Amino acid sequence: MCGIVGYIGKENCVNFLVEGLKRLEYRGYDSSGICVLNEKKLSCYKKTGKIVNMESTLPSEVIGKSGIGHTRWATHGEVTDANAHPHLSANGKFAIVHNGIIENYQVLREKLIADGFEFKSTSDSEVIAMLLEKNFSGNFEKAFYQTLSLLEGTYGIVAVFADEPDYLMVGRKGSPLVLGIGDGCTFVASDVSAFLGHTKQAVYLEDNEICKIYADSFITTDFTLEKKQKEIATIEWDAIELDKKDYQHFMLKEIFEQPESVARAYAGRILADIGTAKLGGLNMEPRELAAVDNIGIIACGTSYHAGLVGSYLLEELARLQTVVHIASEIRYKNPILRRNSLQFAVSQSGETIDTLLAMREFQRKGGKVLGVCNVVGSSIARESDGGVYVHSGPEVAVASTKAFTSQLTVFLLFSILMGRMRDMSQYRGVQLIEDLQQIPQKMESILKKSEQIAEIAKKYAGLNNFLFLGRGISYPVVMEAALKLKEVSYVHSEGYAAGEIKHGPIALVDKNTPVVFVVPQDHLHDKMVSNIQEVKARGGRLIAVCNEGDEKIRSLVEDVIEVPKTEPLFSPLLTILPLQLMSYYVAKELGCDIDQPRNLAKSVTVE
Ligand code: F6R
Repeated sequence: MCGIVGYIGKENCVNFLVEGLKRLEYRGYDSSGICVLNEKKLSCYKKTGKIVNMESTLPSEVIGKSGIGHTRWATHGEVTDANAHPHLSANGKFAIVHNGIIENYQVLREKLIADGFEFKSTSDSEVIAMLLEKNFSGNFEKAFYQTLSLLEGTYGIVAVFADEPDYLMVGRKGSPLVLGIGDGCTFVASDVSAFLGHTKQAVYLEDNEICKIYADSFITTDFTLEKKQKEIATIEWDAIELDKKDYQHFMLKEIFEQPESVARAYAGRILADIGTAKLGGLNMEPRELAAVDNIGIIACGTSYHAGLVGSYLLEELARLQTVVHIASEIRYKNPILRRNSLQFAVSQSGETIDTLLAMREFQRKGGKVLGVCNVVGSSIARESDGGVYVHSGPEVAVASTKAFTSQLTVFLLFSILMGRMRDMSQYRGVQLIEDLQQIPQKMESILKKSEQIAEIAKKYAGLNNFLFLGRGISYPVVMEAALKLKEVSYVHSEGYAAGEIKHGPIALVDKNTPVVFVVPQDHLHDKMVSNIQEVKARGGRLIAVCNEGDEKIRSLVEDVIEVPKTEPLFSPLLTILPLQLMSYYVAKELGCDIDQPRNLAKSVTVE
């Protein structure tokens, strides 16, 4: 949730810390702070609100050859300057930044108070700085190990000690941290976007690793002090991808990137002439794949909705029974692992703690879990037993858009692959691949309608409750549309199976309720027509996303957004686009903070 940055090197690090935090602001943005070390003295600046607030409090001459910074998403303790990180020890010699939750902080805090330590904040993290001071007996590194051994919960921690300016200490258990290897300097951050403009060489820390970082080297050990060999990876993303270019918001930029990102998700993975897909990262022999007879999908939020679409694809194209689990539920449910089962953990960030822990639970039971991640080298990507990167490129807006359609593309490829190993003919496979290759161009034509969609959004933006209805494979699409609208515009919205409205939700419909139907021309079209008529009879304001030339639907509703026809099973790749745009424009009309909606964070690394 929170974002961490750190630097040690020859240059003044203040600019890097502030800019790095801005890159990580999507992780949490209720307060921020930096602490720099100069001539054995720590100077700390913290402020609630966005990073620019903190930046504006910095004196013009702040210098530090090493320093740490943090952007916070509050879990323990309200949003105040005092609760913002970094936290200093009582003697002002140790400073820490922390991401995660210290579960035993109350006990530790009471003991420290009994020992005479005075706390300035109500945050759980402050105990770490105090413990460093308490455990220090001449050796910072040793004090760091001792302190970490007392902590229960999850953490990514970076610590600096005023009297040892040559190194920083870093520890990871449950919250991601990655080193950036620069020219005569070393960076550390919650994710690579913080230092991508400076270096593309990265070292991913694993859970239960501690690292001592110098300007020109680093030493990694586990908690028993055993040295660990670490590989230096080269990051594929470019810093330029983290810029908004000419778009007003990252969300809009990312919506518009989808023709390219979907094409990237299938590039090099299709065998057009034999109508199938190849997914090298699965790490599974054909014989092993052929033995799979049921699938489980674990995910949260938008990734969960992608998994639901995936279940329709897998059942229809590969006839594989598929169960989709909300990660935070399944991990406490003692999941049943069926024989010949294959699990997928789906996560844009690859760091969502519930998905990661649910994945581990399945692995503990002997299950094979494949990752479907965007962020290369993320925890889920590394800990899974194989997987497929979706290659969306960095997704910066908190609301997930392009990752969703890339995840769908990966499920499509996997469903075609499994279908072709089972009952699907080569002819059908070839047709499906051809249809898939036409998707980017069809997406382009929808994006050209953004002005029309903005007008529709404007018309309905003042209304308080939206209903989104769909059937079959469009049902997860409407769930995703409702999530998108509520998260960026704070307007209440629900996504429902259209066949279910008579069982309750239709009671919500009145002349102030926009009801959005997703109704592609598939085998459920006539059923949807009946649902539209039911809602119309009750005075709802009707909007439809339908296929081009669908006069029947046009005659029934107030506003129509047309999308090109496609293979019905691929329709989610198209029908979600106007709904992402509609959410964006409603939020814009209402003056919301679109890229960083209130109370949310991009990467949910606490339970
Ligand atoms: C919605 C959104 C969230 C994420 C969810 C899972 O727009 O962004 O619902 O989809 O937090 O995140 P990942 O995919 O990173 O595991």
